[in-house]
Amino acid sequence: MRLDKFLSQQLGISRSLVARELRAGLVTIDGDVVKSGSFQVMIDHEVAYDGNVLVQVTGPRYFMLHKPQGYICSTDDPTHPTILYFIDEPLAQKLHSAGRLDIDTTGLVLLTDDGQWSHRITSPKHHCEKTYRVQLSEDIGTDVAKQFEQGVMLNGEKYPTRPAQLEIITPRDVRLTISEGRYHQVKRMFAAVGNHVCGLHRERVGDIHLDETLEQGEYRPLTDEEINSITVPSK
Ligand code: URA
Repeated sequence: MRLDKFLSQQLGISRSLVARELRAGLVTIDGDVVKSGSFQVMIDHEVAYDGNVLVQVTGPRYFMLHKPQGYICSTDDPTHPTILYFIDEPLAQKLHSAGRLDIDTTGLVLLTDDGQWSHRITSPKHHCEKTYRVQLSEDIGTDVAKQFEQGVMLNGEKYPTRPAQLEIITPRDVRLTISEGRYHQVKRMFAAVGNHVCGLHRERVGDIHLDETLEQGEYRPLTDEEINSITVPSK
């Protein structure tokens, strides 16, 4: 990759600002000042800006974050803090979340720069399961598990929800597994049966479970097993 493009991505600045920094002699490669933006950066080059080595990112990256309330899953938003606040990685702005949680939802968020991998999670065709722990404002009705198994109509939608599994822990504390990702789906499903979600926490996406050792705001790379568990489903 050209040095000016590399620096623009790494530093998050425009190519014209990069040109200025290059002219000022602030960029070195393997210890030597380089002023030409067309220099081809190779994987084994050590590029430094103002004395700080810039880490080169090779290959796709995959992380799980324990999302706290108050952060949105978009990677740039002018009004709310985003989950990238927690991610201390080079080129963090290149990561995106594989499916979104609402600002007030906590729990498992998967982040990657591999668009094909995240598509397997988010594509409506793939029916990737997600499990949520749900706090309710009213006691759960006795027939709700059956209604969710059969599918419920959400306000303003044409098709009922796909079969979903409800596990009742206590009358106001339940676990719901869905295999779709419609807008505000869990909240709207409980609204459809006359209840209200007052706490929502995602525990699982596919076969990836939120690591219980992660405190809110902490993240870790996924293991190879976790990455490979997200496969294209057989037809
Ligand atoms: N369903 C919701 O209603 N909100 C979420 O954040 C996730 C699923």
